[in-house]
Amino acid sequence: MKVAFLASEVIPYAKTGGLADVAGALPKFLAGLGAEVRVFMPLYREVRKKDLALEPVIAGASLPAGGAEGTYGVLAHRGDGFTVHFIDRPGYFDREALYGTPAGDYPDNGERFAFFCRASLEAMKATGFVPDVIHGHDWQSALTFAYLRTAYADDPWFGRTRTLFTIHNLAYQGLFEKDLLGRIGLPESLFSMDGLEFYGRVNALKAGILYATAVTTVSPRYSREIQTPEFGCGLDGLLRSRAGALHGILNGVDYKDWDPATDRLIPRNFTPADLAGKAACRQALAGEFGLTAPADRPIAGMVTRLAGQKGLDIVCRALDDLLGLGLVPVILGTGDQEIQDFLLSAREKNPGRIGLRIAFDERLARTIYAASDIFLIPSRYEPCGLTQMYAMKYGTVPVVRATGGLDDSVQEYDARTGRGNGFKFVEAEAGPLTEAARRALASFRKPDEWRKLVGNAMAADFSWNRSAADYLALYKKIASD
Ligand code: ADP
Ligand code: GLC
Repeated sequence: MKVAFLASEVIPYAKTGGLADVAGALPKFLAGLGAEVRVFMPLYREVRKKDLALEPVIAGASLPAGGAEGTYGVLAHRGDGFTVHFIDRPGYFDREALYGTPAGDYPDNGERFAFFCRASLEAMKATGFVPDVIHGHDWQSALTFAYLRTAYADDPWFGRTRTLFTIHNLAYQGLFEKDLLGRIGLPESLFSMDGLEFYGRVNALKAGILYATAVTTVSPRYSREIQTPEFGCGLDGLLRSRAGALHGILNGVDYKDWDPATDRLIPRNFTPADLAGKAACRQALAGEFGLTAPADRPIAGMVTRLAGQKGLDIVCRALDDLLGLGLVPVILGTGDQEIQDFLLSAREKNPGRIGLRIAFDERLARTIYAASDIFLIPSRYEPCGLTQMYAMKYGTVPVVRATGGLDDSVQEYDARTGRGNGFKFVEAEAGPLTEAARRALASFRKPDEWRKLVGNAMAADFSWNRSAADYLALYKKIASD
């Protein structure tokens, strides 16, 4: 099974969120199951800076007439179990950030990622790679499927190729003005309601939903939610029309990378059998932030994009009550200015009681997973969510809103049966979050119960093995249809 994997961020090369974790780990596990995976991604400045041994594969190529203008190169890197092909076009990708700056998205993102999609298809041809399946992720890769329906519809190279599109986040759709189509070599005839048109604009994500052989989302529950108006972001009707080809496959964790017994970025390693290292991590984190965190007050970690999706507004409204309960919040995140300002002023008002760092920092993220007692994820929606899975592995008990992948991966703890790995609340309000935190606190203050709960969380198995097998089965199914 030959698979071309297109993603706009991939660890360890470039990352802004969970997509990078998935796109860096899943190919490795697919390769372990015998698939040959080639990953395609843009050559960002962030990648250049890493000084990797990159092998030039194509130089000075240009897209066929009618595509976006400009030349490009392709450089390859042998990753862990798979090869990455970087699309090199400095004018588009040698920039400070992947998608935009705090001032907003780059205005030419439509051209940039259309170019990435088309150049990836050309690179497959130029390097002799005939994919059985092209698997694209999120809107940045979705226009690939529009090209395959138009400019490449009769290209024998892709005559047997089937396609899979994975939605990691339906809210990011890639919306552009109508004239984008002409500039990127797609016919204006695609600008209709049953094509890429969406309220007067071009919707890149629609290309994935409409034209891919099959569509997946990153948890079973989210695959159902997005077919409702509440979570459908205006596309629920379209998604319902593709219900037969829509599947939910829960993301996994690469436990070789995420293991408190071996993680080199945390202050001390630990295992389920010996949690002394976890206590040392806790002490180190409290020290780093100058926090007063006696043993009877749980540290409540958060590692998150500061975006509406993540429910930070709910935390802000619940903050006084959470502090009143004795929780010690430690938050690491970047994003929305308004949320940053609120958190910064809350910290000022509560010296020594809130840890806050506005940054993207892998070391600190892992230290927070390792050092915290509980982990707060009050998301308004969550396609899968990886942070609850990482937290559990590091012995930190999740308190989450029951939505999307959070609902699929967290089971409410039941003290009578000793089953469950966390705490959940349903309504996206401060009161229910505080109530769930209160239940967590009650368990935390009963050492035997807490030990059991932490053990359950650490034993939860979200390894990619199972989900990678599900993806491979789906590839085989669509390839034989
Ligand atoms: P999303 O992709 O919606 O942001 P996920 O839970 O799937 O949410 O994945 C988030 C990923 O990004 C995790 O690997 C998390 O550790 C990481 N992350 C988020 N914010 C930060 C940050 N400020 N610093 C370091 N890592 C972060
Ligand atoms: C998206 C979602 C997140 C998911 C991640 C990886 O960014 O917001 O829930 O875990 O993609 O699939």
